[in-house]
Amino acid sequence: MGGVAGSKLAVAVTGAGGLGQIGFTGDPHLLDEELTSARRQLRNHKLANETGSGHVLPLGTGIIVVGTPVEEFISVISKHNPAVVWLSFGTAAEFQEWTTKIRQDSPLTKIWVQLGSVGAALEAARGCRPDALVLQGSDAGGHGHESGASIVSLIPEVCDAFRAGGLPDIPLIAAGGIMDGRGVAAALALGASGVVMGTRFLGAEEAKAPSQFRQAILEASDGGQSMARSRAFDAMWGPNPWPETYDGRCLKNSMYQSIKDGLSTEEARRKLYQDLRGQNVSPQDTMSIWAGTGVGMVKKVEKAADIVSQVRKAARETIMLLGMTVERSADED
Ligand SMILES: Cc1cc2nc3c(=O)[nH]c(=O)nc-3n(C[C@H](O)[C@H](O)[C@H](O)COP(=O)(O)O)c2cc1C
Repeated sequence: MGGVAGSKLAVAVTGAGGLGQIGFTGDPHLLDEELTSARRQLRNHKLANETGSGHVLPLGTGIIVVGTPVEEFISVISKHNPAVVWLSFGTAAEFQEWTTKIRQDSPLTKIWVQLGSVGAALEAARGCRPDALVLQGSDAGGHGHESGASIVSLIPEVCDAFRAGGLPDIPLIAAGGIMDGRGVAAALALGASGVVMGTRFLGAEEAKAPSQFRQAILEASDGGQSMARSRAFDAMWGPNPWPETYDGRCLKNSMYQSIKDGLSTEEARRKLYQDLRGQNVSPQDTMSIWAGTGVGMVKKVEKAADIVSQVRKAARETIMLLGMTVERSADED
């Protein structure tokens, strides 16, 4: 989660038994700073060795591939050896280029690629062969794939397509709408080997979220109604730099509503600027509050470690309960 998940959140998640991720920084110097700080914090937790060589730093770091020059980031990655580099939003050729360079310069680092369709998953499995595929469904918060499906159909279809195509057994990680142990149990049942949770951690104490952003998240509910996928959110302050194939899920705001009401993007932007002059705005009109459909399940601010342990415990309990239900119904047969 670019801008929200820094070293503090990532270290807290890793310290609790998850795999923390530092969101995309957009700048190699900032990534260097975050990873250096993470190393210091991990050492305090006795979770990292003194030097990076021969050891990975037990966390991941995200790279938004579109528009990002490989060379500027690769030296930072090889300096710190993060356990995972998570690539997202790129073409097959770009993923191939990044994967090749990372494997050359930081061979201990595992590569995850985030994708949003069966076709793109097949292309990646045949092409760059990542160590894991993050399958991002349409419920996910933040930037995503404009045309997509929820993980409920996406993951089983990818599993079936891999099996039918005799493709390597690449672990699938489910992303989008997973908020608690019930979601984890469901994702595992669908065929995932693990889960990514973004929106749930917007309620983590360690997330770098401005107080108005956090308040809006805590107040939002009924995510299918309060949130929307749109390209409007990237066009608020100027032309949208994202390729047409991407949009983002965000708290609905006046820019989104103006476009829905029929204004062109330019007209909607002009109206927003006029409203700003009159102070006639709420926080979601001036900042993009990216979050997923699960936003209504973020009820309070908690420590990241508590979120990780609650989710793991609840997932185990859900799976056990389901097992017991199945056994009972088998006994009745
Ligand atoms: C605030 C926020 C920022 C995000 N930033 C990024 C990003 O920088 N790069 C990326 O690949 N995905 C980003 N995502 C999407 C996540 O990688 C992930 O797919 C998503 O959070 C999973 O769905 P969930 O939010 O329902 O848990 C972001 C999500 C959120 C909520």
